[in-house]
Amino acid sequence: MKKILVTGGCGYIGGHTIVDLVENGFEVISVDDLSRGSLRMHAGIEKILGKPVKNYKVNLCDADDTEAIFIENPDIVGIVHFAAYKSVPESVAAPLRYYRNNIDSLVNLLQCAETYKIEHFVFSSSCSVYGNTTKLPVDETAPLSEPESPYARTKQIGEAICADFARQHPNFNVTLLRYFNPVGAHPSAIIGELQEKPENLVPVITQTAIGKRQEMQVFGNDYPTRDGSCVRDYIHVMDIANAHTKALLYTLDGNNTSNCEVFNLGSGDGVTVLELIHAFEKVSGEKLNYVIGPRRAGDVVQVYANNAKARALLDWDIKYTLDQMMDTAWRWEQNMKREAAKVSMN
Ligand code: WQD
Repeated sequence: MKKILVTGGCGYIGGHTIVDLVENGFEVISVDDLSRGSLRMHAGIEKILGKPVKNYKVNLCDADDTEAIFIENPDIVGIVHFAAYKSVPESVAAPLRYYRNNIDSLVNLLQCAETYKIEHFVFSSSCSVYGNTTKLPVDETAPLSEPESPYARTKQIGEAICADFARQHPNFNVTLLRYFNPVGAHPSAIIGELQEKPENLVPVITQTAIGKRQEMQVFGNDYPTRDGSCVRDYIHVMDIANAHTKALLYTLDGNNTSNCEVFNLGSGDGVTVLELIHAFEKVSGEKLNYVIGPRRAGDVVQVYANNAKARALLDWDIKYTLDQMMDTAWRWEQNMKREAAKVSMN
């Protein structure tokens, strides 16, 4: 079995990707310093897979500790790099923390890829590199515009670092995956998005529905869209996870046409905030307590993907519907409540 190092393997997308990689025949080790990831995610992954997955509790900004993983695992053939801070408002408040963490970790990993001749690398990027694009649906040829946040800028810089490294190392193959809005949870409801105080729409919805929040706000309904609320491209985290497996197979099988390629990972459907809320209410049977509030600084009006390139070249497609995104997110929230009740009874 080919061994893959997944960084950020105890995080939301990293955890779901480990499940997909192992179920597709890869051997996986994880590195996660647990500053944002959780041991609960790690335990959930092992429960779903029915076997242990080793996690190195290492800060990838420490070059020596990072290298020690590669010395101990000379059979690593590929790296899937998720580990990064990803809160837009936090990056605005603390830009240097974001540049230090998101860039240093990437450089250390690429240094190890060079030293230990790792030739396959998947980089977790984001649709936020497009900024407020007017070319919709957006495809990979769209020009990158001024990012809305330091977080988004670290993704633009990260992509450029990968591209420069690939230019100097013809045997090194990197795929840059630009996620749109990952939502939902594993169908088992054993793993999902773990955020105590989420800012993202779907966990805010499920926390409001379950009663963790009294109400939620729709950040503006006076945008130039079909119902006045912002448009986004929501994609199930399981579809995102499978795209990483497909991206690795793409370069491992030598099907890539260049050694640095970029792919949009979106459903291709633009959905408004209000439409998503109504989809949730329909699937869950819960009436959501929301009010219309002011616009949120930094929000783009609408962004959704042209995903034709990934579907054509990565042998990948969207398997989960919007209703399944809402259903799995809701069942995960309900499972978290049951687990919390069990803990409080012990
Ligand atoms: C979606 C829509 C909000 C909360 C972010 C990152 C992006 C990517 C995905 C990592 C917006 C509205 C939200 C609420 C609301 N992350 N909203 N009330 O901002 O599109 O993207 O997550 O790759 O980089 O920027 O996601 O879920 O925060 O917001 O009305 O309580 O929901 O205004 O229109 P966003 P989001």
